[in-house]
Amino acid sequence: MTFLFNSDAKRGAIFAEAFARDLPDIPFSMDPAKVDPEDVRYLITWTVPADLARYRNLEVLFSIGAGVDQLRVDAVPAHVKVVRMVEDGIVRMMQEYVTLAVLALHRNLPAYLDQQRRGNWQAIAQKQAVERRIGVLGLGMLGTAVLERLKPFGFPLAGWSRNPREIEGVDCLNGRDSLHTFLGATDILVCLLPLTEETRGFLNADLFARLPAGAALVHVGRGPQLDHDGLLEALDSGHLSGAVIDVTEPEPLPENHPFWRHPKILLTPHVASITQPETAALAVIDNIKRHRGGLDPIGLVDRDRGY
Ligand code: NAP
Ligand code: GLV
Repeated sequence: MTFLFNSDAKRGAIFAEAFARDLPDIPFSMDPAKVDPEDVRYLITWTVPADLARYRNLEVLFSIGAGVDQLRVDAVPAHVKVVRMVEDGIVRMMQEYVTLAVLALHRNLPAYLDQQRRGNWQAIAQKQAVERRIGVLGLGMLGTAVLERLKPFGFPLAGWSRNPREIEGVDCLNGRDSLHTFLGATDILVCLLPLTEETRGFLNADLFARLPAGAALVHVGRGPQLDHDGLLEALDSGHLSGAVIDVTEPEPLPENHPFWRHPKILLTPHVASITQPETAALAVIDNIKRHRGGLDPIGLVDRDRGY
């Protein structure tokens, strides 16, 4: 019953050490050519390998990341459990990034960077945190953690999800019927939705028009959720004041794409949060123990929901 690690060797070495220490009865391999495919019961990967069918006895497929859209779950046999990454490192990094992005937008950083480039020394009227309403789309592992980290700044906090959620100090709304109310009361919108058929193209011109004038966007979900033209129009008309964008479609963007040099956009190359092997290995080992004990792994993907 082999565990096959299909990602970079540096992270693999850290996983190998943890497996040798905490799960020594499961052979660990980073080389598909050196394993008997019939022995492979567990696989961790970012995308589904083209030759997945050779692992006929596969029981659990772990995503190395929090998102699972890149796995194309339909290509995984129905009896194989698909598990997204739920681990402390990825949570901490996302908390850092969204705090950075929210504060950058709150304190007008894109405008000041533009002024600096133009040699312009000029103060911009500054709203206080209590006047800046933050709204997070998606109240899962990351959305909830990000809201926790934002609490001490004093921003009014809200969140939106499919099912009802309760988070102390956060105005939680759910379902399509409440979306317009949520958007109308959001000055900085943070997208932490998974990519599904329902969320593809979600951040579009109609959604931006529902935000109050001067609102801003932090996009850390997945590239195909964002309509680039819709965002550019909303920024260029002055309706939106700025955007921090970590994910795009395609990645990377073409050389002449307007996002690269737009004065109201801060762009990063899909680095908001990255699985940390030390903590991720412990989470995967724990999940294998749960699976062997007859329990569902933490982060089990619901194939019907798509996340
Ligand atoms: P998660 O725990 O599965 O949470 C997803 C949340 O989104 C849930 O609250 C869910 O609602 C909500 N949701 C899903 N579809 C919805 C819909 N149609 N309408 C309303 N709410 C909906 O996911 P997570 O671990 O927080 O991760 C979220 C996403 O972040 C990942 O899928 C990935 O794409 C992205 N990500 C990006 C980076 C990066 O570096 N940029 C890193 C890691 C992850 P319910 O609570 O009602 O189920
Ligand atoms: C990164 O984007 C992830 O899904 O972990």
